[in-house]
Amino acid sequence: MKHLALLASLSIALLASGAPLSACSSRAPDAAASGANAAPGGLKPLMVGLADRLHALHDGLWREDLGAVGAAATAVAQHPKVSPEERGRIQRTLGEDFPRFAAADGQVHDAAVAIADAAAAKDLDGVVGRLGALEAGCVSCHTQFRARLRR
Ligand code: HEC
Repeated sequence: MKHLALLASLSIALLASGAPLSACSSRAPDAAASGANAAPGGLKPLMVGLADRLHALHDGLWREDLGAVGAAATAVAQHPKVSPEERGRIQRTLGEDFPRFAAADGQVHDAAVAIADAAAAKDLDGVVGRLGALEAGCVSCHTQFRARLRR
């Protein structure tokens, strides 16, 4: 279950992940502020970072900057992990539903990898073709679990 492992480690390295934030520079201070107010290693700052990456991905798409699209998709695929404490809270809260949570994380991961591959191949249609699956993964987890896990 590689996606359980994905959730397992500590770092909140999203802002240090190397993808340019320039497309979102006007939003970066807000994102940093929300992250600072949330528990380190918690889901919420991770999610704020994911939303920023999606913003950068779309921005790259409109500018046909496939390098920016690929960097943003890679950052989504390699998103930071929640802390062991947060992971424990998620597992305790969701119980036997936890595998579905991990599956939604996996759907986002796999779609992000496919988008990064398409971007590397300069295949704009391929990027667009996988974007729906990526965003469906985000929304699927939110509709199933967000209310139960919200702090
Ligand atoms: C595996 C489950 C899961 C996946 C996949 C997921 N999210 Fe979330 N997301 C959550 C949960 C749970 C919350 C509520 C966290 C909280 O309020 O503490 C949340 C909250 C959010 C928030 C609100 C943060 C805030 O400030 O209240 C945003 C934005 C967000 N997610 C974006 C995304 C994006 C973009 C993706 C896809 C790239 C994504 N999420 C994928 C579970 C998920």
